[in-house]
Amino acid sequence: MHQDVKEILYSKEELGQRIAELGAEISKDYAGESVVLVGVLKGAIVFFTDLARAIDDNVDVSFDFISCSSYGNSTVSTGVVRILKDLDRPVEGKHVLVVEDIVDTGTTLHYLLGNLKSRGAKSVRLVALLNKPERRKVPVDVDYIGFTVPDYFVVGFGLDYAEQYRQLPYIGILKESVYEEA
Ligand code: IMP
Repeated sequence: MHQDVKEILYSKEELGQRIAELGAEISKDYAGESVVLVGVLKGAIVFFTDLARAIDDNVDVSFDFISCSSYGNSTVSTGVVRILKDLDRPVEGKHVLVVEDIVDTGTTLHYLLGNLKSRGAKSVRLVALLNKPERRKVPVDVDYIGFTVPDYFVVGFGLDYAEQYRQLPYIGILKESVYEEA
């Protein structure tokens, strides 16, 4: 375990098992359909690649990616979100499944789901590996949830603190001393 991690919340094996279940559920719901998986950069990338491979070949899957940033600082959310990298292709008339690492205050997803709907997508759903409902400020419907987590700052499996720890194969709670020192 990394020295900055206090405790492992979900091991590599638990994540693999849960992602396989999510893949099976999505395969059932989208059987015979086409869907664009929209990965939210960069945090969702590890989850995205595992989830995509857990979806059966009876679903016609394509990939696209988007990157967003919130204005303001972490304590005061303005609710304004900026798109840093947009999708490569239009989603008009398509089923879209947004793949996100974690839904926290909901600011990013609330904006992003509305934005994708306004582009005329046939449907827009959301799959999030982690959900932190205690922190929600803006309502977001999460269609598929990996795990509901308490209000801890977690890292690994794509999730970062100051761009670190994304490569850890598990989800762990970051030691408070790491951000208190910063
Ligand atoms: P929201 O707009 O507040 O829901 O923020 C969502 C984004 O905040 C996620 O995509 C993550 O990048 C980041 N985030 C929120 N909670 C955590 C955490 O516990 N660890 C790492 N990143 C987090």
